[in-house]
Amino acid sequence: TGLPDSTLPPFFSYQDQALHAEGVPLQRLAEEHGTPLFVYSRAAILDALAAYQRGLAGREHLICYAVKANSSLAILQTLVQAGCGLDIVSGGELERALAVGVSPDKIIFSGVGKTRAEMRQALQVGIGCFNVESRAELDVLDEVAREMGQRAPVSVRVNPNVDAKTHPYISTGLKGNKFGIAQEDVVETYRHAAACAGLRVVGIDCHIGSQITQTGPYLDAMDRVLDAVESIEAAGVKIEHIDFGGGLGIDYQGNDNPPAADALWQALLQRLDARGFGDRKICIEPGRSLVGNAGACLTEVLFLKPGEQKNFLIVDAAMNDLPRPAMYQAFHRIVPVQPRAADASGTVWDVVGPVCESGDWIGRDRALAVHSGDLLAVLSAGAYCMSMASNYNTRGRAAEMLVDGTQAHLIRARESVADQTRLERLL
Ligand code: LLP
Repeated sequence: TGLPDSTLPPFFSYQDQALHAEGVPLQRLAEEHGTPLFVYSRAAILDALAAYQRGLAGREHLICYAVKANSSLAILQTLVQAGCGLDIVSGGELERALAVGVSPDKIIFSGVGKTRAEMRQALQVGIGCFNVESRAELDVLDEVAREMGQRAPVSVRVNPNVDAKTHPYISTGLKGNKFGIAQEDVVETYRHAAACAGLRVVGIDCHIGSQITQTGPYLDAMDRVLDAVESIEAAGVKIEHIDFGGGLGIDYQGNDNPPAADALWQALLQRLDARGFGDRKICIEPGRSLVGNAGACLTEVLFLKPGEQKNFLIVDAAMNDLPRPAMYQAFHRIVPVQPRAADASGTVWDVVGPVCESGDWIGRDRALAVHSGDLLAVLSAGAYCMSMASNYNTRGRAAEMLVDGTQAHLIRARESVADQTRLERLL
Protein backbone atom coordinates (compact mmCIF):
# COMPACT_ATOMS: atom_id res chain seq x y z
CA THR A 1 0.00 0.00 0.00
CA GLY A 2 0.96 3.62 -0.08
CA LEU A 3 3.46 5.02 2.34
CA PRO A 4 2.10 6.76 5.40
CA ASP A 5 1.29 10.40 4.64
CA SER A 6 4.05 11.68 6.90
CA THR A 7 6.63 10.48 4.40
CA LEU A 8 4.99 12.16 1.41
CA PRO A 9 6.21 15.61 0.41
CA PRO A 10 4.05 18.47 1.77
CA PHE A 11 0.82 19.08 -0.19
CA PHE A 12 0.74 15.48 -1.45
CA SER A 13 -1.51 13.15 0.54
CA TYR A 14 -3.75 10.10 0.36
CA GLN A 15 -7.40 11.07 0.67
CA ASP A 16 -9.89 8.18 0.54
CA GLN A 17 -7.11 5.83 -0.58
CA ALA A 18 -6.20 8.02 -3.53
CA LEU A 19 -3.11 10.17 -3.97
CA HIS A 20 -3.89 13.87 -4.22
CA ALA A 21 -1.88 17.00 -4.94
CA GLU A 22 -3.57 19.62 -2.73
CA GLY A 23 -7.28 18.99 -3.38
CA VAL A 24 -6.94 17.24 -6.73
CA PRO A 25 -6.99 13.44 -7.20
CA LEU A 26 -4.09 12.49 -9.44
CA GLN A 27 -5.91 9.55 -11.06
CA ARG A 28 -8.34 12.01 -12.61
CA LEU A 29 -5.57 14.17 -14.09
CA ALA A 30 -3.92 11.12 -15.66
CA GLU A 31 -7.24 9.98 -17.11
CA GLU A 32 -7.87 13.42 -18.61
CA HIS A 33 -4.37 14.23 -19.84
CA GLY A 34 -2.57 10.90 -20.22
CA THR A 35 0.82 9.80 -18.90
CA PRO A 36 3.63 10.48 -18.29
CA LEU A 37 2.32 13.62 -16.67
CA PHE A 38 4.13 16.07 -14.39
CA VAL A 39 1.94 17.57 -11.69
CA TYR A 40 3.13 20.46 -9.53
CA SER A 41 1.57 21.99 -6.43
CA ARG A 42 1.51 25.77 -6.47
CA ALA A 43 1.12 25.89 -2.69
CA ALA A 44 4.18 23.67 -2.26
CA ILE A 45 6.28 26.06 -4.35
CA LEU A 46 5.08 29.12 -2.45
CA ASP A 47 5.55 27.33 0.87
CA ALA A 48 9.16 26.50 -0.02
CA LEU A 49 9.73 30.12 -1.02
CA ALA A 50 8.16 31.37 2.21
CA ALA A 51 10.82 29.52 4.23
CA TYR A 52 13.55 31.54 2.48
CA GLN A 53 11.55 34.76 2.83
CA ARG A 54 11.20 34.13 6.59
CA GLY A 55 14.88 33.29 6.86
CA LEU A 56 15.93 36.52 5.15
CA ALA A 57 13.22 38.80 6.56
CA GLY A 58 14.50 42.17 7.69
CA ARG A 59 17.59 41.98 5.48
CA GLU A 60 18.13 43.60 2.14
CA HIS A 61 17.96 40.55 -0.11
CA LEU A 62 17.06 39.13 -3.50
CA ILE A 63 15.99 35.52 -4.03
CA CYS A 64 16.82 34.64 -7.63
CA TYR A 65 15.20 31.34 -8.55
CA ALA A 66 17.58 29.20 -10.65
CA VAL A 67 15.56 28.82 -13.84
CA LYS A 68 17.39 25.64 -14.89
CA ALA A 69 15.72 23.61 -12.14
CA ASN A 70 12.34 23.91 -13.83
CA SER A 71 11.95 26.51 -16.53
CA SER A 72 8.24 26.14 -17.33
CA LEU A 73 6.79 29.59 -17.84
CA ALA A 74 3.91 29.17 -15.38
CA ILE A 75 6.38 28.14 -12.67
CA LEU A 76 8.62 31.13 -13.36
CA GLN A 77 5.54 33.34 -13.36
CA THR A 78 4.41 31.93 -9.99
CA LEU A 79 7.78 32.67 -8.41
CA VAL A 80 8.22 36.08 -10.02
CA GLN A 81 4.75 37.16 -8.92
CA ALA A 82 5.73 36.11 -5.40
CA GLY A 83 8.69 38.50 -5.54
CA CYS A 84 11.56 36.41 -6.89
CA GLY A 85 14.25 37.48 -9.27
CA LEU A 86 15.71 34.87 -11.64
CA ASP A 87 19.12 33.26 -12.03
CA ILE A 88 19.72 32.38 -15.68
CA VAL A 89 22.47 30.58 -17.57
CA SER A 90 21.65 31.16 -21.25
CA GLY A 91 20.05 33.55 -23.72
CA GLY A 92 17.15 31.12 -23.89
CA GLU A 93 16.56 31.37 -20.15
CA LEU A 94 16.83 35.16 -20.47
CA GLU A 95 13.95 35.12 -22.96
CA ARG A 96 11.89 32.94 -20.65
CA ALA A 97 12.60 35.35 -17.81
CA LEU A 98 11.49 38.36 -19.85
CA ALA A 99 8.41 36.47 -21.07
CA VAL A 100 7.10 36.23 -17.50
CA GLY A 101 7.71 39.91 -16.85
CA VAL A 102 10.51 39.82 -14.29
CA SER A 103 12.14 43.18 -13.82
CA PRO A 104 15.49 42.87 -15.70
CA ASP A 105 17.44 44.30 -12.77
CA LYS A 106 16.35 41.22 -10.80
CA ILE A 107 18.08 38.90 -13.28
CA ILE A 108 21.46 37.34 -12.50
CA PHE A 109 23.37 35.70 -15.38
CA SER A 110 25.50 32.74 -14.22
CA GLY A 111 27.53 30.15 -16.10
CA VAL A 112 31.07 29.52 -17.34
CA GLY A 113 30.42 29.92 -21.06
CA LYS A 114 28.44 33.01 -22.02
CA THR A 115 28.69 33.92 -25.70
CA ARG A 116 29.18 37.49 -26.94
CA ALA A 117 25.65 37.36 -28.37
CA GLU A 118 24.26 36.38 -24.96
CA MET A 119 26.25 39.15 -23.26
CA ARG A 120 24.85 41.71 -25.72
CA GLN A 121 21.31 40.43 -25.29
CA ALA A 122 21.60 40.72 -21.51
CA LEU A 123 23.21 44.17 -21.62
CA GLN A 124 20.49 45.42 -23.95
CA VAL A 125 17.74 44.62 -21.47
CA GLY A 126 19.76 45.80 -18.47
CA ILE A 127 20.13 42.75 -16.24
CA GLY A 128 21.17 43.19 -12.62
CA CYS A 129 24.43 41.26 -12.60
CA PHE A 130 26.75 39.03 -14.62
CA ASN A 131 28.32 36.35 -12.44
CA VAL A 132 31.69 36.02 -14.16
CA GLU A 133 33.70 32.82 -13.87
CA SER A 134 37.07 33.53 -15.52
CA ARG A 135 39.51 36.28 -16.38
CA ALA A 136 38.94 35.60 -20.09
CA GLU A 137 35.18 36.05 -19.69
CA LEU A 138 35.75 39.29 -17.79
CA ASP A 139 37.81 40.69 -20.65
CA VAL A 140 35.30 39.73 -23.33
CA LEU A 141 32.42 41.18 -21.31
CA ASP A 142 34.39 44.40 -20.85
CA GLU A 143 34.93 44.61 -24.61
CA VAL A 144 31.29 43.88 -25.49
CA ALA A 145 30.02 46.43 -22.96
CA ARG A 146 32.40 49.14 -24.21
CA GLU A 147 31.28 48.51 -27.80
CA MET A 148 27.74 49.16 -26.58
CA GLY A 149 28.78 52.23 -24.58
CA GLN A 150 27.82 50.51 -21.34
CA ARG A 151 29.32 49.30 -18.08
CA ALA A 152 28.34 45.72 -17.33
CA PRO A 153 27.45 45.05 -13.67
CA VAL A 154 29.69 42.20 -12.54
CA SER A 155 30.33 39.89 -9.69
CA VAL A 156 33.15 37.35 -9.74
CA ARG A 157 32.41 33.78 -8.76
CA VAL A 158 34.85 32.57 -6.14
CA ASN A 159 35.69 28.90 -5.95
CA PRO A 160 36.00 28.53 -2.18
CA ASN A 161 37.47 25.00 -2.39
CA VAL A 162 34.83 23.59 -0.05
CA ASP A 163 33.49 20.05 -0.26
CA ALA A 164 29.71 20.25 -0.53
CA LYS A 165 29.51 16.52 0.28
CA THR A 166 27.19 15.73 -2.57
CA HIS A 167 27.31 13.68 -5.82
CA PRO A 168 30.57 14.46 -7.73
CA TYR A 169 28.64 15.54 -10.87
CA ILE A 170 26.81 18.25 -8.92
CA SER A 171 29.67 19.38 -6.70
CA THR A 172 31.07 22.65 -7.99
CA GLY A 173 33.10 24.37 -5.28
CA LEU A 174 36.24 22.23 -5.34
CA LYS A 175 39.55 23.12 -6.97
CA GLY A 176 39.14 20.36 -9.54
CA ASN A 177 35.83 21.80 -10.81
CA LYS A 178 35.51 24.05 -13.85
CA PHE A 179 33.66 26.72 -11.88
CA GLY A 180 34.73 30.04 -10.43
CA ILE A 181 38.07 31.72 -9.76
CA ALA A 182 40.53 30.31 -7.24
CA GLN A 183 40.63 32.07 -3.89
CA GLU A 184 44.27 33.13 -4.36
CA ASP A 185 43.50 34.89 -7.67
CA VAL A 186 40.39 36.72 -6.51
CA VAL A 187 41.89 40.03 -5.36
CA GLU A 188 43.93 40.43 -8.53
CA THR A 189 40.84 39.64 -10.62
CA TYR A 190 38.84 42.33 -8.79
CA ARG A 191 41.63 44.88 -9.17
CA HIS A 192 41.59 44.16 -12.88
CA ALA A 193 37.78 44.31 -13.14
CA ALA A 194 37.67 47.63 -11.29
CA ALA A 195 40.11 49.08 -13.82
CA CYS A 196 38.03 48.03 -16.86
CA ALA A 197 36.00 50.86 -18.39
CA GLY A 198 33.28 48.46 -19.53
CA LEU A 199 32.73 46.89 -16.12
CA ARG A 200 31.16 48.00 -12.86
CA VAL A 201 31.88 45.77 -9.86
CA VAL A 202 28.70 45.20 -7.86
CA GLY A 203 29.16 41.95 -5.98
CA ILE A 204 30.81 38.63 -5.32
CA ASP A 205 29.34 35.18 -5.61
CA CYS A 206 29.85 31.49 -4.97
CA HIS A 207 27.93 28.27 -5.49
CA ILE A 208 29.43 25.11 -4.08
CA GLY A 209 27.13 22.44 -5.43
CA SER A 210 23.65 21.03 -5.42
CA GLN A 211 21.58 18.72 -3.19
CA ILE A 212 23.60 19.85 -0.15
CA THR A 213 22.07 18.45 3.03
CA GLN A 214 24.43 19.88 5.66
CA THR A 215 24.92 23.37 7.04
CA GLY A 216 28.69 22.99 7.53
CA PRO A 217 29.76 23.39 3.90
CA TYR A 218 27.65 26.57 3.63
CA LEU A 219 29.30 28.07 6.72
CA ASP A 220 32.75 27.17 5.39
CA ALA A 221 31.97 28.71 2.01
CA MET A 222 30.61 31.84 3.69
CA ASP A 223 33.82 32.22 5.69
CA ARG A 224 35.93 31.92 2.55
CA VAL A 225 33.79 34.40 0.66
CA LEU A 226 33.90 36.90 3.53
CA ASP A 227 37.69 36.47 3.71
CA ALA A 228 37.73 37.37 0.02
CA VAL A 229 35.48 40.42 0.56
CA GLU A 230 37.83 41.67 3.27
CA SER A 231 40.86 41.41 0.99
CA ILE A 232 39.07 42.87 -2.03
CA GLU A 233 37.84 45.87 -0.06
CA ALA A 234 41.28 46.32 1.50
CA ALA A 235 42.48 46.64 -2.09
CA GLY A 236 40.00 49.48 -2.56
CA VAL A 237 37.17 47.76 -4.45
CA LYS A 238 33.72 48.00 -2.84
CA ILE A 239 31.43 44.95 -2.82
CA GLU A 240 27.72 45.84 -2.67
CA HIS A 241 26.06 42.44 -2.62
CA ILE A 242 27.12 38.95 -1.66
CA ASP A 243 25.57 36.06 -3.59
CA PHE A 244 25.73 32.70 -1.82
CA GLY A 245 24.35 30.68 -4.74
CA GLY A 246 21.85 27.87 -4.44
CA GLY A 247 22.37 24.24 -3.61
CA LEU A 248 20.15 23.45 -0.64
CA GLY A 249 19.02 19.85 -0.90
CA ILE A 250 15.58 18.33 -0.55
CA ASP A 251 14.37 15.15 1.07
CA TYR A 252 14.25 12.47 -1.66
CA GLN A 253 14.50 9.33 0.47
CA GLY A 254 12.45 10.29 3.51
CA ASN A 255 15.61 10.49 5.65
CA ASP A 256 17.90 12.96 3.85
CA ASN A 257 17.24 15.60 6.51
CA PRO A 258 18.43 18.77 4.80
CA PRO A 259 18.15 21.87 6.99
CA ALA A 260 15.01 23.95 6.42
CA ALA A 261 15.77 27.10 4.42
CA ASP A 262 14.87 29.38 7.34
CA ALA A 263 17.01 27.41 9.81
CA LEU A 264 19.92 27.41 7.36
CA TRP A 265 19.68 31.17 6.96
CA GLN A 266 19.37 31.73 10.68
CA ALA A 267 22.75 30.01 11.07
CA LEU A 268 24.29 31.81 8.09
CA LEU A 269 23.08 35.25 9.15
CA GLN A 270 24.48 34.70 12.62
CA ARG A 271 27.89 34.09 11.05
CA LEU A 272 27.47 37.05 8.71
CA ASP A 273 26.63 39.33 11.66
CA ALA A 274 29.46 37.94 13.76
CA ARG A 275 31.89 38.83 11.02
CA GLY A 276 30.53 42.34 10.65
CA PHE A 277 28.84 41.96 7.27
CA GLY A 278 25.26 42.00 8.54
CA ASP A 279 24.35 45.09 6.55
CA ARG A 280 25.27 43.71 3.11
CA LYS A 281 22.67 42.93 0.51
CA ILE A 282 22.33 39.16 0.19
CA CYS A 283 21.48 37.36 -3.03
CA ILE A 284 20.74 33.65 -3.33
CA GLU A 285 20.06 31.35 -6.28
CA PRO A 286 17.97 28.43 -5.04
CA GLY A 287 16.53 26.04 -7.61
CA ARG A 288 15.79 22.51 -6.43
CA SER A 289 14.71 23.53 -2.92
CA LEU A 290 11.91 25.72 -4.34
CA VAL A 291 10.39 23.27 -6.81
CA GLY A 292 11.83 19.78 -6.30
CA ASN A 293 9.35 18.44 -3.80
CA ALA A 294 6.47 20.34 -5.37
CA GLY A 295 6.28 17.97 -8.34
CA ALA A 296 5.44 14.36 -9.11
CA CYS A 297 5.54 12.45 -12.38
CA LEU A 298 2.58 10.15 -13.00
CA THR A 299 3.29 7.04 -15.02
CA GLU A 300 1.23 4.01 -16.02
CA VAL A 301 2.38 0.44 -15.45
CA LEU A 302 2.51 -1.16 -18.90
CA PHE A 303 3.78 -4.67 -18.15
CA LEU A 304 4.86 -6.85 -15.26
CA LYS A 305 7.90 -8.87 -16.26
CA PRO A 306 8.99 -11.17 -13.44
CA GLY A 307 12.30 -12.90 -14.07
CA GLU A 308 14.81 -15.27 -12.61
CA GLN A 309 17.22 -12.61 -11.32
CA LYS A 310 15.14 -9.46 -11.44
CA ASN A 311 11.51 -8.51 -11.65
CA PHE A 312 10.83 -5.61 -13.96
CA LEU A 313 7.93 -3.24 -13.82
CA ILE A 314 7.81 -1.58 -17.22
CA VAL A 315 6.20 1.86 -17.05
CA ASP A 316 5.49 4.51 -19.68
CA ALA A 317 7.88 7.13 -18.25
CA ALA A 318 11.55 6.75 -19.08
CA MET A 319 15.02 8.24 -18.76
CA ASN A 320 14.06 10.89 -21.30
CA ASP A 321 11.41 12.15 -18.83
CA LEU A 322 13.25 11.39 -15.58
CA PRO A 323 16.98 11.49 -16.35
CA ARG A 324 18.28 11.78 -12.79
CA PRO A 325 18.51 8.05 -11.93
CA ALA A 326 20.40 7.28 -15.17
CA MET A 327 22.70 10.29 -14.78
CA TYR A 328 23.41 10.39 -11.05
CA GLN A 329 22.05 7.08 -9.72
CA ALA A 330 19.53 9.38 -8.05
CA PHE A 331 16.77 8.04 -5.84
CA HIS A 332 13.14 9.08 -6.32
CA ARG A 333 10.36 7.56 -4.20
CA ILE A 334 7.76 5.74 -6.26
CA VAL A 335 4.28 5.29 -4.79
CA PRO A 336 0.98 3.95 -6.10
CA VAL A 337 -1.67 6.50 -6.99
CA GLN A 338 -4.48 4.15 -5.86
CA PRO A 339 -2.81 1.72 -3.44
CA ARG A 340 -3.83 -1.95 -3.48
CA ALA A 341 -3.76 -4.30 -0.51
CA ALA A 342 -0.12 -5.20 0.22
CA ASP A 343 1.18 -7.98 -1.98
CA ALA A 344 1.68 -11.05 0.25
CA SER A 345 4.50 -12.16 -2.04
CA GLY A 346 6.35 -8.94 -1.21
CA THR A 347 7.58 -8.77 -4.77
CA VAL A 348 10.41 -6.36 -5.34
CA TRP A 349 10.65 -4.64 -8.71
CA ASP A 350 13.03 -2.62 -10.80
CA VAL A 351 10.90 0.15 -12.27
CA VAL A 352 12.11 0.75 -15.82
CA GLY A 353 11.05 2.68 -18.90
CA PRO A 354 10.61 1.70 -22.55
CA VAL A 355 13.87 3.27 -23.78
CA CYS A 356 16.36 0.88 -25.36
CA GLU A 357 19.12 1.22 -22.76
CA SER A 358 19.89 -0.72 -19.60
CA GLY A 359 20.50 2.65 -17.96
CA ASP A 360 16.82 3.42 -18.41
CA TRP A 361 15.70 2.75 -14.87
CA ILE A 362 13.67 4.93 -12.54
CA GLY A 363 13.88 2.97 -9.31
CA ARG A 364 15.51 -0.27 -8.20
CA ASP A 365 14.33 -2.94 -5.77
CA ARG A 366 11.01 -1.35 -4.92
CA ALA A 367 8.32 -3.31 -3.08
CA LEU A 368 5.12 -2.42 -4.91
CA ALA A 369 1.76 -4.18 -5.19
CA VAL A 370 0.57 -3.32 -8.70
CA HIS A 371 -1.29 -4.63 -11.73
CA SER A 372 -0.73 -3.50 -15.27
CA GLY A 373 -2.73 -0.35 -15.95
CA ASP A 374 -2.12 0.98 -12.43
CA LEU A 375 -0.68 4.45 -11.99
CA LEU A 376 2.47 5.21 -10.08
CA ALA A 377 3.73 8.60 -8.90
CA VAL A 378 7.45 9.29 -9.03
CA LEU A 379 7.91 11.81 -6.22
CA SER A 380 10.26 14.79 -5.82
CA ALA A 381 10.20 15.26 -9.60
CA GLY A 382 9.72 19.03 -9.69
CA ALA A 383 13.39 19.90 -10.25
CA TYR A 384 15.81 18.81 -12.98
CA CYS A 385 13.35 16.40 -14.57
CA MET A 386 11.22 18.23 -17.13
CA SER A 387 13.97 20.82 -17.63
CA MET A 388 16.42 18.01 -18.53
CA ALA A 389 13.92 15.94 -20.52
CA SER A 390 14.81 14.93 -24.06
CA ASN A 391 13.20 13.41 -27.13
CA TYR A 392 15.37 10.30 -27.13
CA ASN A 393 13.60 7.42 -28.93
CA THR A 394 11.32 10.10 -30.48
CA ARG A 395 9.36 10.26 -27.28
CA GLY A 396 7.40 13.46 -26.93
CA ARG A 397 8.07 15.39 -23.77
CA ALA A 398 5.39 14.94 -21.10
CA ALA A 399 2.57 17.35 -20.36
CA GLU A 400 2.72 19.48 -17.20
CA MET A 401 -0.01 20.63 -14.83
CA LEU A 402 -0.04 23.09 -11.98
CA VAL A 403 -2.51 22.37 -9.19
CA ASP A 404 -3.91 25.24 -7.15
CA GLY A 405 -6.33 24.11 -4.44
CA THR A 406 -9.02 22.12 -6.21
CA GLN A 407 -8.12 23.53 -9.65
CA ALA A 408 -5.64 22.01 -12.09
CA HIS A 409 -4.19 24.01 -14.97
CA LEU A 410 -2.50 22.51 -18.00
CA ILE A 411 0.73 24.55 -18.22
CA ARG A 412 2.39 22.62 -21.02
CA ALA A 413 0.67 20.39 -23.57
CA ARG A 414 2.05 16.99 -24.45
CA GLU A 415 4.59 17.22 -27.26
CA SER A 416 3.46 15.60 -30.52
CA VAL A 417 5.60 13.93 -33.15
CA ALA A 418 4.79 16.88 -35.41
CA ASP A 419 6.25 19.21 -32.76
CA GLN A 420 9.39 17.08 -32.73
CA THR A 421 9.92 16.94 -36.51
CA ARG A 422 8.89 20.53 -37.19
CA LEU A 423 12.46 21.72 -37.84
CA GLU A 424 13.54 18.71 -39.89
CA ARG A 425 13.65 18.53 -43.69
CA LEU A 426 13.68 15.56 -46.06
CA LEU A 427 16.38 15.60 -48.71
N1 LLP B 1 23.41 28.74 -9.11
C1 LLP B 1 24.30 28.15 -9.93
C2 LLP B 1 25.45 28.93 -10.42
C3 LLP B 1 24.13 26.80 -10.30
O1 LLP B 1 25.02 26.22 -11.09
C4 LLP B 1 23.01 26.08 -9.82
C5 LLP B 1 22.80 24.68 -10.21
C6 LLP B 1 22.09 26.74 -8.98
C7 LLP B 1 22.33 28.08 -8.65
C8 LLP B 1 20.88 26.08 -8.42
O2 LLP B 1 21.24 25.01 -7.58
P1 LLP B 1 20.12 24.23 -6.74
O3 LLP B 1 19.59 25.19 -5.70
O4 LLP B 1 19.08 23.78 -7.68
O5 LLP B 1 20.89 23.10 -6.15
N2 LLP B 1 20.92 18.34 -12.70
C9 LLP B 1 21.43 18.14 -11.35
C10 LLP B 1 21.62 19.45 -10.64
C11 LLP B 1 22.53 20.40 -11.38
C12 LLP B 1 22.70 21.73 -10.67
C13 LLP B 1 23.39 22.71 -11.54
N3 LLP B 1 23.58 24.02 -10.98
C14 LLP B 1 20.47 17.23 -10.61
O6 LLP B 1 19.47 16.80 -11.18
O7 LLP B 1 20.72 16.88 -9.46
